[in-house]
Amino acid sequence: MRQKIVAGNWKCNTTLQEGIELAKAVDATVAEKGARDVVVILGTPFTHITKVVEAINTGRIGVAAQNCASEAKGAYTGEVSAAMVKSTGAEYVILGHSERRQYYGETSGILNKKLALALENGLTPIYCCGEALEVREAGAQNEFVKQQLAETVFTLSPEDFKKIVIAYEPIWAIGTGRTATSAQAQEMHAFLRGTIAEKYGKEIADGTSILYGGSCNPKNAKELFANPDVDGGLIGGASLKAEDFIEIINAY
Ligand code: PGA
Repeated sequence: MRQKIVAGNWKCNTTLQEGIELAKAVDATVAEKGARDVVVILGTPFTHITKVVEAINTGRIGVAAQNCASEAKGAYTGEVSAAMVKSTGAEYVILGHSERRQYYGETSGILNKKLALALENGLTPIYCCGEALEVREAGAQNEFVKQQLAETVFTLSPEDFKKIVIAYEPIWAIGTGRTATSAQAQEMHAFLRGTIAEKYGKEIADGTSILYGGSCNPKNAKELFANPDVDGGLIGGASLKAEDFIEIINAY
């Protein structure tokens, strides 16, 4: 179902204690505001999930893992499976982030295994796509992102595709302070929705939440979120400060 979503991606930041404080601060503000039509998600390190779930009201804030293993279980030292993530109380998992693709060699083949396991275990994947600066400068961003989807989430059945959230995160905007303009975000999001419609039909495309990520902050969130095809944001740096993240939630 298409929803407005503001999701934090804490990446490899915060100790457990800092994470709990951050989560509590966000939870308190969301509680004060009462029921809103925006879904708030905290993407915490694996080590924090259980404690964050305990510290917040999960009826109003969801928790995401930032990754899961590509195998169901077994002798894979250091890995955390989708079933383990689910058993902590997390409901979401971020998959396909450009940092995972770039630094940890995550290919479409690996991502397909992770997507399948996440879905089998009842987790909602937040699937990231997005082009590098050279691709944007060559004007090839649309084909590039379409290909990323074609190799991964477009292999899902319509029933499974309906369960996922897409995040468009241009690599050149991640952590750089250089945000896509509101027009660039809208243009890509409309393209993505059109591409989803070609593959699964208009109804599924209209029901898909497509988030923008990349240097989203309290100053630019309102303008980005005002676009008809931008359904919220995946927020990195600005999700680490409770006041900033709350201001972004309040941009809706
Ligand atoms: P950023 O990161 O907001 O720090 O640019 C976004 C992301 O990588 O999800």
